[in-house]
Amino acid sequence: MTSQPAQNDGDDCPALERVRLTVNGRLFEADVEPRRHLGDLLRHDLKLTGTHIGCEHGICGACTVIVNGAPVRSCLMFAGQAHGATIVTIEGLAAPDGTLHPIQQAFWDRHGLQCGFCTPGMMMTIKAVLADIPDADEAAIRDAISGNLCRCTGYETIVDAALDAARALRGNV
Ligand code: FES
Ligand code: FES
Repeated sequence: MTSQPAQNDGDDCPALERVRLTVNGRLFEADVEPRRHLGDLLRHDLKLTGTHIGCEHGICGACTVIVNGAPVRSCLMFAGQAHGATIVTIEGLAAPDGTLHPIQQAFWDRHGLQCGFCTPGMMMTIKAVLADIPDADEAAIRDAISGNLCRCTGYETIVDAALDAARALRGNV
């Protein structure tokens, strides 16, 4: 998919950069201003609005996506830096037929969300940590999500969900 180039407002508008990246298995191209961050590229140019933007300065973790296998705060990465990258967003978690990913199923079963604002970032952070540490225990989960703020759940149900997801992904449900 190719998005429309951003509007050029005149001489003050910096040159656009062409960015090509693979998101959830699909190749995308977009023309972006150098100051555009990855979160806005995903949400506004690629229309992948599941990634949430909260603080926009690296504090809340709501905008976390996986870039080349590592969790990244998409508000802190310029879109241009993602040129050539492989990215997974919350839209890439469920199977194509809509079957929930084990992390999504565990959040559902354990009531791991209330308003849901933090949830995409939480899930992508948990996906990344479980890829690195399949037998992550409670301490490892809490450490991994320590940079993801949730105003609703008190974190207990999120941690329970992450531990359930770890068991499911290891095959001992
Ligand atoms: S919006 Fe990126 S860390 Fe808060
Ligand atoms: S569920 Fe509302 S902020 Fe976490």
